[in-house]
Amino acid sequence: MANNIIAVKGTHDMIAEESSAYTYIQNVFRAVAGLYGYQPIETPIMEHTECFLRSTGEGSDVVRKEMYTFLDKGERSITLRPELTAGVARCIVEKKLLATGDVPLKLFYSGPVFRYERPQLGRYRQFIQAGVECVGQDSPWLDAETIALAMRTLSYLGFRGVKVKVNTLGDKASRDAYKEALKQYFKPHLEEMCDDCKNRYELNPLRILDCKVKEDQKLVEGAPRMKDFLTKEAEERFYKTLSILSQEGVDYEIDDTLVRGLDYYGHIVFEVHASSPTGADYGAIMGGGHYDGLLANFGGRVECDSGVGFAFGVERLYSLMRDNNLLEGVAETLDIYMMPLTEDYIEHAFVLAEQIRGLGYTVEVPYAKTKLGSMFKKANRKKAKVAIIFGEDEINNGVVQVKNLATEEQVEANIETLDETLSMILDEHEEEEEHHCCCHNHEGEEGEHHCCHHHDEEEGEGEHHCCHHHDEEEGEGEHHCCHHHEEEKDYHCHHHKDGKKDD
Ligand code: HAM
Repeated sequence: MANNIIAVKGTHDMIAEESSAYTYIQNVFRAVAGLYGYQPIETPIMEHTECFLRSTGEGSDVVRKEMYTFLDKGERSITLRPELTAGVARCIVEKKLLATGDVPLKLFYSGPVFRYERPQLGRYRQFIQAGVECVGQDSPWLDAETIALAMRTLSYLGFRGVKVKVNTLGDKASRDAYKEALKQYFKPHLEEMCDDCKNRYELNPLRILDCKVKEDQKLVEGAPRMKDFLTKEAEERFYKTLSILSQEGVDYEIDDTLVRGLDYYGHIVFEVHASSPTGADYGAIMGGGHYDGLLANFGGRVECDSGVGFAFGVERLYSLMRDNNLLEGVAETLDIYMMPLTEDYIEHAFVLAEQIRGLGYTVEVPYAKTKLGSMFKKANRKKAKVAIIFGEDEINNGVVQVKNLATEEQVEANIETLDETLSMILDEHEEEEEHHCCCHNHEGEEGEHHCCHHHDEEEGEGEHHCCHHHDEEEGEGEHHCCHHHEEEKDYHCHHHKDGKKDD
């Protein structure tokens, strides 16, 4: 018998609640990036291999060992992207985006990337990266703003007390001096070092600092530090960026061993690590930094070839959020479970369900003969909020029984005014002008509201599911709103169902 076909090693399926959580994370990020003026960009998953050789760096492990590279039928060397920065830079140059648009060009993205790594906790061969690139202007303010964006994303996802590690790789003169010092330091030990490090020594000695081999790590501990080789300008720039971060209230710590794994960085680099309550270490959840000269690798001649960006692994964030109970209420929920009392009323249930869906509520119908008790059990398993029950009497009288499954209260509702009855149970009533969602299009009509998460209002503050997680201190620990609520009085989120009017 043939073997079963299973998913490719290091890849994973995202099903139902997990998939909802991924969408939620990406939507929160999209909303936060929007707050900073970022526009979306989508570049192809495959690029010419050269794209990564020139930018991500021939000295990096990612390029040397982890790329999915193949010859296509036209004998072109193609690579599945191991990161998005290179493709975005290629696109900026190819489409001359800096010649036509304002600087800085601010782009955000999210999509699958591929790295042939050894699969382990938090490490996949296909995973999702979301990130930003801010290109065409060189300023410590932009560097700091990008880090603030990264940290705000984590905060809006509900993370508290997370620190960002920062370091500087200085300007080119600083790095050249540092690389030379590293070469001198490692030279006498080269013979005992791993083969990778022998290569790194030639290609980019900075990469030796990332070596995971225990013996080499011991040597790395005694290696010279970047901070002792910074030019005065590079040092001043670093401290300027740090002072802006402090001003912004961004919680950072300097880690002078942080060098990042990709070759294009200069000046500030940063990474965020967070742990789960059980101590599971999923690796860095975010990483990024400043870069100079990236566009020139693609033949781009621009006034200012500087940029800053970061990316995060959606899987790692998801795992940490799950472990820290930050995903409660994020999964898609069911508003209404239809309960026709006998099989004969399934057609009625079908028609009514279609009408109710038109009001913007999620509805499910059991299309097989099911006992009332089983229907309640099913509704319970599906976490439905309301049951709509009807039999012959109800149909003859043009009514249904509407049961609030949380409170167990049941009312008889006229079909003609069913929307009002459902609205009373399932919706919350707020003044439109007081709505403060970060994803809200304030100019637009109600119908144009593009919220990053499905709101559930009838449950009150405690279970409101918006794209921002509230501060525990504010007593709204379970409120997941897309707007940062400084004070209780600022809480004004609506229930927005497509096509359904808020009052
Ligand atoms: P990176 O540090 O190589 O940076 O990757 C960014 C994030 O992707 C990591 O912090 C981690 O969360 C996630 N990640 C990396 N490898 C894996 C893996 N095998 N499985 C799951 N998640 C992973 C970059 O890629 C840069 N392009 C970031 C950047 C943008 N720098 C400037 N602009």
